[in-house]
Amino acid sequence: MRLAKFLASAGVASRRGAEQLIRTGRVTVGGARVTDPAATVSLDAGDRVALDGKPVTGSPTRVVYAVNKPPGVVSTARDPQGRHTVVSLVPGELRLYPVGRLDIDTTGLILLTNDGELAHRLTHPRFEVPKTYRATVAHPPVKDAALSALRGGVPLDDGVTAPARVRLLGPGTLELTIHEGRKRQVKRMCDHVGHPVRRLERVAFGPLRLGDLKSGAHRVLTAGELEALADATARASAGSEARRSETA
Ligand code: URA
Repeated sequence: MRLAKFLASAGVASRRGAEQLIRTGRVTVGGARVTDPAATVSLDAGDRVALDGKPVTGSPTRVVYAVNKPPGVVSTARDPQGRHTVVSLVPGELRLYPVGRLDIDTTGLILLTNDGELAHRLTHPRFEVPKTYRATVAHPPVKDAALSALRGGVPLDDGVTAPARVRLLGPGTLELTIHEGRKRQVKRMCDHVGHPVRRLERVAFGPLRLGDLKSGAHRVLTAGELEALADATARASAGSEARRSETA
């Protein structure tokens, strides 16, 4: 297993954070300093990993929280500007990592986990977990042409968006399901069709729904929900492999 992956799944840091720890020489394997983030460890062979001289043992119990992010809260684990972070909404000793990002003014479902490796996997483009947003937009009513454009893919400055599922819930309210996770994607898509977003809420992440979780509240995912999430990741990965080989 890659050393960075081992450290992330042991809850020591996010995958990127673990790579940085390795690069800066803080990690040893079997007593020898390792600075290559691509290094591997074989725990079966008895490799002992330490961070700053302290042994890092296997994974702690994995916990995943669903949080209803309020507006004005950032979705990074730490904020250099000292703003409220989504992680601070869940009190306790665990070091938690947000799964992906929501803009500061976007509300709704975000997952937090102590498993940095899981957080990495769930946001990796290869897994393309579908995310559903409810958007209140300017200049209603939204016409069929705009809906078709959103569904088919709109040209943004970082490329055309993949097909999206889009439903009109009211003259100025849309529900969009996208598989990509580009920055400000829903806002940019809606801007492109002439309907800037006024309010954005994420109502689903893969098979998980926001439901009636109150703003600022959190709950632990059940074993059944974790299983459903793992299934959705496996399905999304298989789907993206198939699409890749079709276009190869
Ligand atoms: N798309 C956006 O534009 N913003 C978000 O926060 C999430 C998706």
